[in-house]
Amino acid sequence: MIAHRQLVPGRSPREASVIPVTTRWVGSWRVSIDRKPYAAQELAHLYNRSASGWDRLVALLGTCSAYQQIFQRLVGSGALVAQNGPLKVLDGGIGTAAMALALAQCWPGALDLTGVDLSTDMLSRAASLLAQQGISANLLRGDIASVELVPQSFDLAMIGHVIEHMADPSEALSSVLKSLRPGGRLVLVATRRSWLSLPVQLRYRTHRWASAETARMLRFAGFTDVAPLHGVGGAVFQGLSFAMTARKPLDTE
Ligand SMILES: C[S@@+](CC[C@H](N)C(=O)[O-])C[C@H]1O[C@@H](n2cnc3c(N)ncnc32)[C@H](O)[C@@H]1O
Repeated sequence: MIAHRQLVPGRSPREASVIPVTTRWVGSWRVSIDRKPYAAQELAHLYNRSASGWDRLVALLGTCSAYQQIFQRLVGSGALVAQNGPLKVLDGGIGTAAMALALAQCWPGALDLTGVDLSTDMLSRAASLLAQQGISANLLRGDIASVELVPQSFDLAMIGHVIEHMADPSEALSSVLKSLRPGGRLVLVATRRSWLSLPVQLRYRTHRWASAETARMLRFAGFTDVAPLHGVGGAVFQGLSFAMTARKPLDTE
């Protein structure tokens, strides 16, 4: 049983529900600007409106080719292992399935794909793009922090550009860890803290997690072998995002 733990040390639940944008000292005054993140329902609505053009946008930003490079590297190094039959994959916050489609191009065998998303329209678009490639998937509308997933069932979990929507990703990371089989692999990509990502933060009210902070959160959640995936993608992807991989320890339930 994996207990839920607060992963953002020192932040009260009230503080965790706002996004610090900037803090400056003006003489003896500390001036802060914070933003209220979207609630799950608002986020679903926002992504419903973006769904029809989302796959074209991520292709344009070089995200799809960066995802492909990630999976080429992991497949090439033998880091992805299917235990019985197809590779069992969880795509948390699947969006329009950019990660799953990139994986399908690199994985030589069959995939058994489960995708979770808050947005029904993103899920519909994912279903149609996956079907075009002959990939069937179990698509679930829900929050990755609370959706019911079979424990220890996945060989690979992917979370692409999703944790930045969370003030505290601890529940989502615990839920994903629980759903992985011992030794199962996580691939996580998130928006990095940079000037380039500022428009994303303003539009989507996202948190800008630093990669070191994210690595710490993953270790704290119980993941092991947490390692950055350097040098994937082009300049835009690298300016906007960071990628890392981790594993569920073999001795964890
Ligand atoms: C920036 S998009 C990324 C989509 C896809 N993973 C990709 O890399 O292209 C974020 C997606 O995560 C979904 N999302 C955000 N928070 C979520 C949560 N807590 N549970 C499930 N889906 C979530 C949104 O609805 C949206 O489709």
